[in-house]
Amino acid sequence: MLTGAGISAESGIPTFRDAQTGHWARFRPEDLASPPAYQRDPEMVWEWYAGRYRDVLAAQPNEGHRLLAELEAHKGAGFFLATQNVDGLHARAGSGTHGGTLVELHGNLLSARDEKTGEIFPLPAPEGLQTPPVSPNGNRMRPNIVWFGEYLPEAALNAAHQAFAGAEVALIIGTSGVVYPAAGLALEAMAEGATVIEINPDETELTPLLTFSLREKAGQGLRLLLE
Ligand code: APR
Repeated sequence: MLTGAGISAESGIPTFRDAQTGHWARFRPEDLASPPAYQRDPEMVWEWYAGRYRDVLAAQPNEGHRLLAELEAHKGAGFFLATQNVDGLHARAGSGTHGGTLVELHGNLLSARDEKTGEIFPLPAPEGLQTPPVSPNGNRMRPNIVWFGEYLPEAALNAAHQAFAGAEVALIIGTSGVVYPAAGLALEAMAEGATVIEINPDETELTPLLTFSLREKAGQGLRLLLE
């Protein structure tokens, strides 16, 4: 499985590229989610991420997240979920705890990384969050997010390549399929002869390249497929 911001839309979390609600509609990505932006103004970048951190804690997993967690409980070790989302909602729905694997390809908003040691620590509750946060080692921490121009976590990406290359069926849910290497996973599965099904209310760049595309929202599409 590969999911994008669309699976969290029904939890009230704005997607990135939907013009009317998307995050980027108000900001230019390079002004916020990039190493130069952080070097230039760490407080401003942390202000933005602290706001998103509060938003995702206030959100709840939706039916799409829950159906994927249930599917994992049926499939066990054969179930692999790679998400581009950083909202932590798949983990809160229980994905990765029913015998399958969950990898967060772009990091998550709930933790931060010691800038000197690279160690990752969970963020304190929002009311106790100072920005920029300081690690237990006394070093400043940066958001544990993969920014534009940065590499994805190697172990997570390698596991995803392996899982998609060996998949019989892959679902591509709620992603515009424009950001690589994540979007490439769908094509790798296709190249190995898998059945790759997209669930998205809109057509995407991947649509013409996949086995077929369900023009549905994540929850409804998963319900139809899993019935
Ligand atoms: N159910 C399913 N899909 C939906 C829903 C829904 N309810 N609502 C919107 N979508 C679809 C949109 O049609 C769009 O194709 O979700 C997709 C969201 O696309 P993006 O906003 O581009 O988000 P995503 O594909 O996850 O972005 C990938 O880009 O900005 C970077 O790192 C960031 O992880 C992000 C990556």
